[in-house]
Parts: sequence; C-alpha cells; structure tokens
Amino acid sequence: MAVTVGGIAVSHVPAIGAAIAQHKQADPYWRPFFEGFAPAHAWLRAAKPDVAVVFYNDHGLNFFLDNLPTFAVGAAPAYANADEGWGLPVIPPFAGDAPLSWHVIEQLVRDEFDIASCQEMAVDHAFTVPMQLLWPDGGRVPAVPIAINTVQHPLPSVRRCFRLGQSVGRAIASWKHGARVLVMASGGLSHQLDGPGAGFINKAFDLAFLDDLVANPGALERLSTLEVVEQAGTQGVELLMWVAMRGALGASVRQIHRHYHIPISNTAACLLVLEPEVETV
Ligand code: DHB
Ligand code: FE
Repeated sequence: MAVTVGGIAVSHVPAIGAAIAQHKQADPYWRPFFEGFAPAHAWLRAAKPDVAVVFYNDHGLNFFLDNLPTFAVGAAPAYANADEGWGLPVIPPFAGDAPLSWHVIEQLVRDEFDIASCQEMAVDHAFTVPMQLLWPDGGRVPAVPIAINTVQHPLPSVRRCFRLGQSVGRAIASWKHGARVLVMASGGLSHQLDGPGAGFINKAFDLAFLDDLVANPGALERLSTLEVVEQAGTQGVELLMWVAMRGALGASVRQIHRHYHIPISNTAACLLVLEPEVETV
C-alpha cells in the first residue's frame, strides 16, 4: 500500500521563479529566504517520496473566468508550463502520474466531490515555483496537481477544502502500488496584490493559523471565506491549499520545519514541513 511520507507547504511568489532563473539565491534580499529550504531538502532526501499530490491555485493560465472549476484534478501524463507574464521563463513539462490521478478522482467522486478531471492542464507559477524550490537540482517526482479556485468568488470554504484533503488522504491510503507519497500545498500566507489594501500582511494571523494548522486544524473550520480575506488579504485565500494538505495528513502531525519570512514581494512567505504522526499504511 502507499504511504504518506509528509506534507510540504510553500509560497509561490513569481519573483522567486525570477530569482532562480537569474541565480540570485545568494543576494542579500534572497539569501534569508532560500536558506530556509536546507532543512526541507535534507528531509526530502531522507523521506524519498516518489510522487507528489500538489494542491495549488491556477491564476488564469489554464482556467479563466469563462470556465472556472472549484476543484480540478490533473489526470495527464505530463503538465506543460506556459508563458503567463511575470517575466518568468517557460520551463520544461512536469511528469504526471495518471493512474494515481484517476485513483484520486474515483475517491473524490465517491466522497461526493464534484470535481473537474483534466487530461490536459497547463501549470503556472503556483505549481512550478514550489517544484523548483523543493528540487533545485532536478530529480523532481511525478505529480498529481489539484487546483482549487481562488480567483472567482464564491470560493470553496475552509471546511470544504479540509474535507477535500481528507478524501485525498483516503485515496492515498488505499493506493495499492506501494508509492511513497508527498502532499504539497502552494501559496499564501497573508498577502494582497491590489486595491487600497495592496501590500497588506498580517503576521499575527499567519502565526496563529500555522499553530492551528499543525495542532488543531479543526479550529480553522470556523473561519469563513470573508474572514480569511479580511485577515489574510485577498490573495491570502491561498491558504486554502494549506488546509487541504493538512486534511490529507490525518489526525495528528509533527512539525519538522517552519520558516516564515516577511516579505517576498508583497507576500508573507512561508515554508512548512509536516510528518503524519502515524504513517498511513
Ligand atoms: C505575488 C504573490 C502571489 O501569490 C502571486 O500569485 C503573484 C504575485 C507577489 O507577492 O508578488
Ligand atoms: Fe498566488
């Protein structure tokens, strides 16, 4: 049976992708951010995942306002990156794991999630930047991308995203192919890119959110989407990915590493590494 080796959540600011492309990791602005990844790299070397389920939010590359599923699961053999602006170079496609994708889709539908299944899906910076951060020297594992709508309201609730993650956790636990599965989340934490509140960051909220996410995720379910927007900013709703990841990891987790860094561009950037208290077998 498959094993969930852990979860990693990480911010996906496009400027990070540009810094990687321009080899700026040692610059004074970037060094404190990139240094925070060494413990995650060490953990990954030991955990040896061979596939990743990635909760991320598309920003208008694959889905736009004309056609915007709440939850979309990739079921492709590979996922192409494409030009989305931001000055980011287009990078080569990422491998998928279509059999695991279909297994996840079957579990989600059995659990009454009405998802879109995508046999073709282009991935934007929210997918590519975490992959580049976690595997800077290649060796990236195949992925099952799961996109959650954060673009057009109404957004799914915190509670719904937690349940989505739990369903994905059940899918992993019943996958008979012996894989070591990493669950990833991309986005957040607090940030707002536009409007009068542009530049808004809420450190107190982020740190309380992280504590609850690790030790008491049930407490997060009381947060409404409006409260998340008010507390974390309009783009801070990306923390829905973190909630979904946490749902997949089971009742209790150990925090392996946390690195919170303000700011990267307009964002409170964070990296969180979690291990399930009991590995799902
Ligand atoms: C920024 C943050 C994001 O999450 C994003 O998708 C784009 C830009 C930023 O802080 O610049
Ligand atoms: Fe974003």
